Amino acid sequence: MIKDQIKKIYKAKIINTEKVSTNSYYIEIDCNKEIEAKAGQFVSIYCEGLTFRRPFSIFTNNKGKIGILYKERGKGTKYIKSLKKGESIDISGPLGNSFSIKNCKSLLIGAGIGTAPISFLKSKLENENIENIFIAGFLNKNEIPKLINPNIIYTDDGSFGKKGNVLSDTEEIIKKYKPEIIYGCGPEIVLKKISELGERYNIETQISLEKLMACSIGVCRGCVIDIKHGTKTVNASVCKDGPVFWGNEVIWQ
Ligand SMILES: Cc1cc2nc3c(=O)[nH]c(=O)nc-3n(C[C@H](O)[C@H](O)[C@H](O)COP(=O)(O)OP(=O)(O)OC[C@H]3O[C@@H](n4cnc5c(N)ncnc54)[C@H](O)[C@@H]3O)c2cc1C
Ligand code: FES
Repeated sequence: MIKDQIKKIYKAKIINTEKVSTNSYYIEIDCNKEIEAKAGQFVSIYCEGLTFRRPFSIFTNNKGKIGILYKERGKGTKYIKSLKKGESIDISGPLGNSFSIKNCKSLLIGAGIGTAPISFLKSKLENENIENIFIAGFLNKNEIPKLINPNIIYTDDGSFGKKGNVLSDTEEIIKKYKPEIIYGCGPEIVLKKISELGERYNIETQISLEKLMACSIGVCRGCVIDIKHGTKTVNASVCKDGPVFWGNEVIWQ
């Protein structure tokens, strides 16, 4: 298994970098090889001087040219931001599982940088002509990455789109739109509420979790969470068994 993961490490070339909001960036990387990536999968990037690779959801994939949207947080993202077009980068992936796409009315909810995998999912649904609505939420207008294309945008301060958080009108939207599945990515509090809404309205939910990762390939057990499996509680690693889980399986802390 580790051998398989090693095969997924690429010395890739940066073909595009762009600042896309006050605090987020886009980087496009040519892996020099056709790569199949599913929505929800991620890549891990080696950041010079740091022991652990940093995980980022795949935002776009055009035959192995992988795009990532990222928010600057600490040393790793600062390093990625310092890289220039033409320089090389060491990435590993695609890793993890993916959203299970169902051919039914779909409600997509992304908050903050969690809009990255949800945008990729939307493009996959549209390729298959699956009806969907994508709702995105940000703190304010300046944080909206210019490359995303949701149907409805919320900002906490009302500086763009509707005023409120990404879940302000979800119950109303559920009642009117009657989605058969809800997909979500964003802060854990948002994901927890999505899965609670799913249970209340009897709608399947799939949410993509974030955990600090060390190995990113299911070996170190550093990202393990508890999930429900029938009547049992079992361990699952976010990096290998996830990052996407059924909302009703997750045991929220
Ligand atoms: C499966 C997965 C997909 C992700 N996709 C994206 C993405 O598409 N775009 C994006 O910008 N970020 C994404 N992240 C989060 C990203 O991995 C972290 O922002 C990054 O590792 C921070 O590295 P750093 O060295 O810059 O910051 P660090 O110095 O490592 O951390 C800076 C701060 O960020 C916090 N932090 C670090 N990692 C995470 C995390 N995983 N979750 C919550 N807080 C964290 C730390 O606790 C610390 O407070 C994803 C994480 C996972 C697990
Ligand atoms: S990060 Fe090592 S098992 Fe998930």
